[in-house]
Amino acid sequence: MQQSSGKSGHRAIRSYVLRAGRVTPGQQRALDEHWSRFGVEFEPQALDLARVFGRDAARTLEIGFGNGEHLLERALRQPDHDFLGVEVHRPGIGHLLLAAATAGVPNLRVIAHDAIEVLRQQLAPGSLNEVQLLFPDPWPKKRHHKRRIVQPEFVALVASRLASGGRLHLATDWEPYAEDMLRVLNDCSLLANCAAAGGFIDVGALAARRATRFERRGERLGHRVRELLYRRC
Ligand SMILES: C[S@@+](CC[C@H](N)C(=O)[O-])C[C@H]1O[C@@H](n2cnc3c(N)ncnc32)[C@H](O)[C@@H]1O
Repeated sequence: MQQSSGKSGHRAIRSYVLRAGRVTPGQQRALDEHWSRFGVEFEPQALDLARVFGRDAARTLEIGFGNGEHLLERALRQPDHDFLGVEVHRPGIGHLLLAAATAGVPNLRVIAHDAIEVLRQQLAPGSLNEVQLLFPDPWPKKRHHKRRIVQPEFVALVASRLASGGRLHLATDWEPYAEDMLRVLNDCSLLANCAAAGGFIDVGALAARRATRFERRGERLGHRVRELLYRRC
């Protein structure tokens, strides 16, 4: 398993900082034993996703899946659908691999690299049916706003990787970021806001999903969750 250095590539500003997070012995074992089964190496060339998954099915990409609970739950719930997760945090990847191996899920793959480089170089235009970005780092300090992953170029890149009619689903518990996301996404000509008044979608408008770790943390802090849903025109 290659590790994203966070220093190579074309972008000067990253949406993450690789911290020396502790990988538990169980997570390390999972990385050693199960990467060959679930992992896809980053390479600067377009992936043949039908080959990666061994079939041609609808595909969801989850960007920054954290510990992967939500991604695994969806893969188990929708066996006729394929799920690709991209994350840079090794403990989270190890956590997901351990759970995925225990569950024996066949329709899940993981790339351990910067999602922006993966989108740009490894995923072909129109190759995805759904992209989820759930509780991305809010970077609350003004001087860090440039690190927020939701920027016009990122949104245009994601939109270009969606097939026509494909959907982009985002959630955050940080109100100022939610407003910022709404502005940036509504400005993207390749996407149409699915909410009636061009705003946030109502709580419960989408099928029930497992709350993510960061979502549960936000709830404990009393934060309101905002969700956004767009369709590729
Ligand atoms: C605030 S956490 C949320 C994790 C998870 N989605 C949740 O809701 O629990 C944001 C995650 O995005 C990951 N991340 C940030 N920028 C990324 C990028 N460019 N590529 C891949 N992962 C990224 C971080 O490593 C982190 O695990």
